[in-house]
Amino acid sequence: MRRLIWLLPLALFLNCKDQSAAPTGLVTDQAMVVSARVEASTIGSDIIKKGGNAFDAMVATEMALAVAYPFAGNLGGGGFMVYRTADGDVGGLDYREKAPLAAHKDMYLDSLGNVIPNMSTVGATAIGVPGTVAGIIEVHEKYGSLPLKDILEPVIALAQKGVVVTLKQAERLESYKERFVEVNGDSTKFAQNFKPGDTIKYPELAQTLTKIMNEGRDGFYKGEVAEKISAFVQAKGGFISEEDLEKYKAKWRQPIIFNYRDLKIISMSPPSSGGVTINQIFKMMEPYKVSSFGHNSVKTIQLFTEAARRAYADRNFFLGDPDFTDIPLDVLLSDDYLKARMNDFSFEKATRSSEVTYGNVQVLESMETTHYSIVDNEGNAISATTTLNGGYGSKLYSEELGIFFNNEMDDFSSKPGIPNMFGLIGAEANSIAPEKRMLSSMTPTIVEKEGQLYMVVGTPGGSTIITAVAQTILNVYEFDLSMQEAVNAPRFHHQSLPDVIMFEEVGFSEELKEALQAKGYHLLEGRTPIIGKVDAIRILPDGKLEGGADKRGDDQAVGF
Ligand code: GLY
Repeated sequence: MRRLIWLLPLALFLNCKDQSAAPTGLVTDQAMVVSARVEASTIGSDIIKKGGNAFDAMVATEMALAVAYPFAGNLGGGGFMVYRTADGDVGGLDYREKAPLAAHKDMYLDSLGNVIPNMSTVGATAIGVPGTVAGIIEVHEKYGSLPLKDILEPVIALAQKGVVVTLKQAERLESYKERFVEVNGDSTKFAQNFKPGDTIKYPELAQTLTKIMNEGRDGFYKGEVAEKISAFVQAKGGFISEEDLEKYKAKWRQPIIFNYRDLKIISMSPPSSGGVTINQIFKMMEPYKVSSFGHNSVKTIQLFTEAARRAYADRNFFLGDPDFTDIPLDVLLSDDYLKARMNDFSFEKATRSSEVTYGNVQVLESMETTHYSIVDNEGNAISATTTLNGGYGSKLYSEELGIFFNNEMDDFSSKPGIPNMFGLIGAEANSIAPEKRMLSSMTPTIVEKEGQLYMVVGTPGGSTIITAVAQTILNVYEFDLSMQEAVNAPRFHHQSLPDVIMFEEVGFSEELKEALQAKGYHLLEGRTPIIGKVDAIRILPDGKLEGGADKRGDDQAVGF
């Protein structure tokens, strides 16, 4: 009995997950959109106010990001969306780019079999067949409630009126200017110097959007726009043909769904690795009393890193486009397999990822993409991540159509064992083939708790997307942070190879780092980039919504 009394405070502490942290982000009663730009969040939220649902708001937000945030928002890229309707139905949409018909396995190799520098990352040769417009039209046709005209008119008005340049945007445009000029020549719109407070208008993009508004999918994938895209890309040495565009289809896919304690986590399935990898990480952590280790403590970082080490190793070897590659999901996600994967884990000492020396693989470019989260006033939820891959994609910009094109072909494994720009090392499962989709890390995710909508979450960040999403969920659920605190919290990342832990600059003490090094962990020295820009929504116990908009960017929650 005395022992039971002694254990009571501990039991209460371990159960504190049932108490919900007080909100610190924007709280609204009915609906919310959180995205990388206030213009996009406002347009999405207004669509819901006008009687649209979360799917209508998705179409509006996705297109508004192409106008207001061309760094990653796009018509010339692709993405993934996971939804949960108010009655609990869930699904996923794959509008990922695919390899053009002219693609082949060795297309980025020279005659000696070496990867040709920049060919899969810069300019026309790097472009996959864009999927975004097919994605939004598919969503609208299946679940939309407002006419496309009502949804796209405010976006077109924004493109015509223009977008005010923020400080962060001005810095980005400046840092990419040389590359814009290299790829597009010095007459490009983006050769100009933009200052904070300047307004950039996009009349050509407004015209392209008008064609889509009037003609739907065909306004982009057939006729005048398709002709212009293929002529422009091929004139620059790329491979996209009118046939590629006409054949492109977005695909509905069953998401990855798994339980973590009393949560049900719904995330994107292949060709995104996000759902599978996050599932593996959570299940490898589940046997441990994570909340008792403390937020960003040595033990939590160790456990998370070791789970991520094993999950990314599987990701890199087994995952690819499921329409081309047999993925042994039943084994990879089985309890026995994941338990066995952690058999050699010890809190005493780091496991080694391989014999490859750490530090010889570099992340060459900022890790960009963008994510938005939506909950409407009926309780429908959308989690969508969209990308051009690198910042401004291939940097190739069609002045005539007002769009940047992706460099998503780099997400394929150009050559097994050779890292891509995220330092990810792929295998045969992710080799290039005509019409195949390249493996992604995008992790749009929705979380239920006890059968109710609990969180909508996602982030940009290339290979760091998966770990940033996982840490955000853990921050709220295990460590009782509010949604905004969970987004603000400092993040770390490990992806098997290179065998290093990467930390954000602020929030991790020297003492903590030394403790990890003493256990054999290698830390990425001299580089402390931001890890993700998470945009998320938490449903509070009283049904209100709390936004988590990442201050690492210009991200903003808007709602009512
Ligand atoms: N382009 C980044 C990703 O899809 O993971």
